[in-house]
Amino acid sequence: MRSTTLFCLLVPLTHATTTEMVALPAAGGGAPPGPNLKATASKLDWAQITYDEGTVTSAYNVTLTSGTPSYTIYADAFALAGRWNDGKLYGLTNQGVAPEDGGCCADSFTVYSEDEPEGEVVDLSFVNDLFPDALEGYAWPTHTFDIVDDYMYLMVQYKDATLNAKADAIVVLELGTYEVVQTASGSDYFSFYEELSTLKTTSSESVFNIQHYSSSSSDTEEWHGNGVTAFTMKDGTDILAITHRSFNEAILMTNPYTSKTGGEIVQRFGKPGLYNAAGKSSSQHDFGGIGATEGDWNGMHNVYYSISPSDGSETITVFVNSDGGSSSVVYNFDINLRYESDVSSIDDTAFDTEWRSVSLPFQTGSQGGARPIGPQKDGSRVFVVASGGASKGIYVVSEDGEYENYGDGEGTYDPFVFYTE
Ligand SMILES: *[C@@H]1O[C@H](CO)[C@@H](O)[C@H](O)[C@H]1NC(C)=O
Repeated sequence: MRSTTLFCLLVPLTHATTTEMVALPAAGGGAPPGPNLKATASKLDWAQITYDEGTVTSAYNVTLTSGTPSYTIYADAFALAGRWNDGKLYGLTNQGVAPEDGGCCADSFTVYSEDEPEGEVVDLSFVNDLFPDALEGYAWPTHTFDIVDDYMYLMVQYKDATLNAKADAIVVLELGTYEVVQTASGSDYFSFYEELSTLKTTSSESVFNIQHYSSSSSDTEEWHGNGVTAFTMKDGTDILAITHRSFNEAILMTNPYTSKTGGEIVQRFGKPGLYNAAGKSSSQHDFGGIGATEGDWNGMHNVYYSISPSDGSETITVFVNSDGGSSSVVYNFDINLRYESDVSSIDDTAFDTEWRSVSLPFQTGSQGGARPIGPQKDGSRVFVVASGGASKGIYVVSEDGEYENYGDGEGTYDPFVFYTE
């Protein structure tokens, strides 16, 4: 009898319960808090997600409720995303220096911690100075950033004078000092237009290059960068990854900040349009082998890297606003790097990979993000999802079609502001 009791006591220890606290800051658009943040902000709302990391195979196995973090933070809106790092919450904010412009722009971080529950403002207007040639002085952090080790990777939108359009670039800052970190080849920023673009209009030219076109309006967005992350793969390859909203795609490139030969496109996933020289699109690429079964894609957000605890496979999760159906969709694809020098005949199949998707119980045309939890085995993957512009809070969804929901009415950009208790 005694040994049986002991056995029963020990079993739960091999399947530890994970408790995640996920914050729901409002993605308030361009300039929500302003200088009166401290006076007007209300308490940040948190969700609590409880599950067994080793066995969760369905949203049915997850408890999603209101969360009570160990301390209170007064932050209710960011412009647009925030990140949690080492006991601090960093949110992109707008103090009224940067314009408010279609989801852009931020001119500051507000940093919250146990010691600074109402936040401390860090000026980011120096990012503007890195782009002295920008049209109309337009160059600002936009949408999201990521904190990777001691570095902050910012997505920046700037008006490129040559292109006569809003182009996207990455700026990296040192965490804490906020000093600008240069690329391995000595630039203050990495612009996708300057480094990776083509103006050519044939399909094969825009596989290992990102198509751009000279625009007649400097307000044109090419291509509304939003998600960004950087990571080192198991084999040691350093990757910088982004998503382009209006190009419906994720791009993985070798990291130009860690190697002079970096900044080379090694994978794309999604359906970027193919444009003529006048900027009209009549077809879409198919990167990833998505196929003709899905319709035209419209909008992709937020790139999230993970390693499956069950088989060690490396995947990226993205949020697709519409893949032609009536709901938004989580796509998860295997990382499968291809170097241009290894491809003999260049076409869209260069980036074929394995992927799977989960249709969501809502549709949103703006924002949204997803990340996997649990063992991440095919057929039983589980994702934490933010509903973005649909303002339906946080979801946990799974491949079997089950879901849980918390925070209906709240519009959170992505589910990446979280910590595990
Ligand atoms: C998780 O949910 C699935 C689907 O409802 C169920 O079959 C399975 O038994 C659950 N697993 C656990 C550990 O509760």
